[in-house]
Amino acid sequence: MCDKCKGNYYITTPIYYPSAKLHIGHAYCTVATDTMARFKRLQGYNVMFLTGTDEHGQKIEDKAKEAGVTPQQFVDNIVTGEKGVLDLWKLMNISYDRFIRTTDDYHVAAIQKIFKKMYDNGDIYKGTYKGKYCKPCESFWTESQLVDGKCPDCGREVQDAEEEAYFFRLSKYADRVQDLLENTDFLEPRSRVSEMVNNFIKPGLEDLCVSRTSFTWGVPVDFDPGHVVYVWIDALFNYMTALGFENDKYDDLSSFWPADVHFIGKEIVRFHSIIWPAMLMSLDLPLPKKVFGHGWLLLDGGKMSKSKGNVVDPYILAERFGVDALRFFLLRSFPFGSDGNFSNELLINTINVDLANDLGNLVSRTVAMAQKYFGEKLPTEQLADEEKDAELIAMVSGLRDQYEAEMEKYAFQNGLALVFKVISRANKYIDENAPWVLAKTEEGKPRLAKVLYNLLETIRVCGGLLTPFMPATSEEIAKRLGGARMDWESLNTFGILPADVATVAGPALFPRIDVEKELAALEELSKPAKPAIEIEPYTEEKVDFDTFCKSDFRAVKVKACQNVKKSDKLLQFTLDDGTGTDRQILSGIAKFYKPEDLVGKTLVAITNLPPRKMMGRESNGMLLSAVHTEKGEEKLNLVMLDDAIPAGAKLC
Ligand code: MSP
Repeated sequence: MCDKCKGNYYITTPIYYPSAKLHIGHAYCTVATDTMARFKRLQGYNVMFLTGTDEHGQKIEDKAKEAGVTPQQFVDNIVTGEKGVLDLWKLMNISYDRFIRTTDDYHVAAIQKIFKKMYDNGDIYKGTYKGKYCKPCESFWTESQLVDGKCPDCGREVQDAEEEAYFFRLSKYADRVQDLLENTDFLEPRSRVSEMVNNFIKPGLEDLCVSRTSFTWGVPVDFDPGHVVYVWIDALFNYMTALGFENDKYDDLSSFWPADVHFIGKEIVRFHSIIWPAMLMSLDLPLPKKVFGHGWLLLDGGKMSKSKGNVVDPYILAERFGVDALRFFLLRSFPFGSDGNFSNELLINTINVDLANDLGNLVSRTVAMAQKYFGEKLPTEQLADEEKDAELIAMVSGLRDQYEAEMEKYAFQNGLALVFKVISRANKYIDENAPWVLAKTEEGKPRLAKVLYNLLETIRVCGGLLTPFMPATSEEIAKRLGGARMDWESLNTFGILPADVATVAGPALFPRIDVEKELAALEELSKPAKPAIEIEPYTEEKVDFDTFCKSDFRAVKVKACQNVKKSDKLLQFTLDDGTGTDRQILSGIAKFYKPEDLVGKTLVAITNLPPRKMMGRESNGMLLSAVHTEKGEEKLNLVMLDDAIPAGAKLC
């Protein structure tokens, strides 16, 4: 830890399944974690922000098989490939400090050691697994846990499963875990505690099946070949192996464990608040200080999935609205602990109201007025007006601490609401003080300078507190205020900017979006994309067999080929058709081929068409080609035969 730091702070996201491309719902948790990590850094903590990918399990093995690649190739593509997980976090400006992949060698070896330790201490034993298995969730269930005979997490069909397997003595820790949940603030929001206790612990916590033999894509149990470690055991320990637990790759365990908080989605609270602490208890390890189960981002009231189309594609949303606006929207619109309904309309309105109108306008108007009335710098002669300034100054001065209290509770929405209340107040302060009236007289100038100073100072504090949410925007705001200080200390004090602050003009931070137009454009985008390749419609009208047989198709060899003068369409072919006399055919394909590329090729010609004059030259037949449209562009390929086929061979 550095001397100046307030302390170490360790925060994690869930590690993502690279089974499909991520959608905006996945980005929700990572943006929240990033915001918290940036907030803690701003406060002066030495932060470790961990994210990563959870790459083992049957689902991945199955998907790889479907795709005809190895599981490793499959996950590599989704993690490191174009628009993969790493690209997405870069796009969303995610400032993680460490990225773990559960296929990393050091992690695999550590999991083997951890599994063996629990086996050696008697908390993992061998037995027979009989029960139900939900493949998509990789979860085992007992009959009593099923809801209407289906997986209680996802509602899908479960399968009967029976096999020799290892078990973890979860039941042994039931009382301690219940105590942890009920009598400490380990799990938040508190509303999730009763769900865990009533649905999972009170009905009787059974031992957990922690190995599989029916597939191989997992961490092998090294003392019993054929078994692989249950993916959740493998996954949960990432939070510690990434710091160096049971491996030499890293050495940060003493600095950062126990974690300050694990941010996770509500459907994986069971794993993090029951199984995870029980395993740590088994190994006598410190428990994380907190698990926070946030809500889901819903689409039309249901769970989001990439199959629902482009509306949930973070790349499209970021491209259209900007990364900061998207990050802001996610945390401004929904309380972090509850579900929220995502809609394009809400997204656009949030941007228009908060960012374009309130924040954007405040910055533009203030900087524009400062420059218009005083040029680059404010004059130092300024006149305060106690009565008129007191409320705004008091609000700004108290803002940091109120905001901090909300952020410490992960109440991002409330933190932002406080900042935007001050922004609105500042906009009202402009109207109350009417700078344009003050500007009319020389006597008004000192007061005008003070009004603008107070506004710039308000913008500095609000901009600084927005840094965790919209890092690029805050940086831009600091620039507009002449490189203003936005460090944590400075955000608690009104009056940090020099009186003669220099401002820098710039374009609108958030241009107003035309709601109707944008909704229509998004609607268009979410329609299923036209196929990249389009083919001509088939001809319905039948042709009788005898008529068809009358067409004489022959293999012909290109002896010479040239462009036809004054025509940008026509190519003139001299062809060997096997008769001993050259055949001339003209073809409108100059757009697709260079004449020299065709010499020597074996093509197909219909030879018994009546002769036709084109650009004064005679054409005796037609060359066959294949046509289609690709991404709206016409494509043509001459039908080419194997060169072993002699000139004149009849095609039938
Ligand atoms: N691999 C496990 C986590 C292991 S952690 C030791 C996993 N992966 S996941 O990719 O399926 O989900 C990762 C996170 O994304 C989860 O916290 C999940 O709740 C979150 N979300 C997925 N869809 C979401 C929404 N629509 N809304 C909010 N969060 C969502 O679970």
